Amino acid sequence: MPTILAIETSCDETAAAVLSGFNGVLAHEIFSQAEIHSEFGGVVPEVASRNHLASAPLIIDRARQKAGLDFSQLDAIAATTGPGLASALLVGASLAKGLALGAAKTFLAVNHIEGHLLSPFFGRDTIPPHTALVVSGGHTLLLDVEGFGKYQLLGRTLDDAAGEAFDKTAKLLGLGYPGGILIDRLAADGDPARYDFPRGMIESGDFDFSFSGLKTSVRIFLEKHGPPAKTDLPDLCASIQAAIVNVLATKLLKAARQSGRHTIAISGGVSANSSLRQSLNTQAERVGLELLFPPPDLLTDNALMIAYAAAHHLAAGHTSPITEEISPNFQASALAKIPS
Ligand code: KG4
Ligand code: ZN
Repeated sequence: MPTILAIETSCDETAAAVLSGFNGVLAHEIFSQAEIHSEFGGVVPEVASRNHLASAPLIIDRARQKAGLDFSQLDAIAATTGPGLASALLVGASLAKGLALGAAKTFLAVNHIEGHLLSPFFGRDTIPPHTALVVSGGHTLLLDVEGFGKYQLLGRTLDDAAGEAFDKTAKLLGLGYPGGILIDRLAADGDPARYDFPRGMIESGDFDFSFSGLKTSVRIFLEKHGPPAKTDLPDLCASIQAAIVNVLATKLLKAARQSGRHTIAISGGVSANSSLRQSLNTQAERVGLELLFPPPDLLTDNALMIAYAAAHHLAAGHTSPITEEISPNFQASALAKIPS
């Protein structure tokens, strides 16, 4: 059973995990910098990379100690090499390469989106055919998945990601960062039908998304009505959340119907959203679709999902050259790109 150390530093989480086979979790360490960035109202790339540089060696060593292994006992060392913040990716990728060189181990470059994409299946040795929605702070993607490595991009956001829509509207409302969870919590006591915010591209006939109109609409609303009264916040949050959830759920179910898949899987930080879960649970049950979410501790960025994706690559006989570069920008082709 191969044992893999994975390192994740694509955004503001410094994480390391050790996985044996597909389900033997030996270590799962995360240091979130969210509090550090919250004072800036969003992730500041240089602050993120400086913090990765300071914390990653400690997090990696803690993971190794928890796993009770020496680096020499590992079979491969994996790192997220993109998409993400360039200077942040460089820290994790460089450390992983250094460890792989030092211990003469296989290096595996893992795509962050593939990590999220496979996370609902964590522990399984095969990935079943399904329709996937990856919704994070940086990405909103709809994919048809035939199996591991066989991904077809059906649609994506043309501007803001779903998580970004949550975070940016939360900022406009004067809530903190990251805003998704704050909107989710406040919305629990709100009326989603009180305010009518736009459902971008819901009738577009394709599987692309657009959330920048929602942000603009909230900004115009606030310019007109002034800062929201505390008593109006729950209704505002519930109405904003409904606009985002409505589009995501509608397009995901339509894609599953058109592709003839019987399973749908949602991953990325936004898959933690309680309204999205509730809405999809109800609709999936009604049409007889199996619905999968990642385990709770794999929702937001972590290294275990990277180790799990790496385990599939290793099982398929893939390895990455030690010269592999980082790829900060999302490229659909890179998702399906197979390490040699
Ligand atoms: O997957 P993730 O940790 O990082 C990226 O790869 O981007 O996702 C972070 C995003 C943030 O935008 C955050 O606001 C959002 O996930 N998020 C949520 C919730 N929890 C996290 N959005 C809506 N509702 C939530 N409960
Ligand atoms: Zn992510």
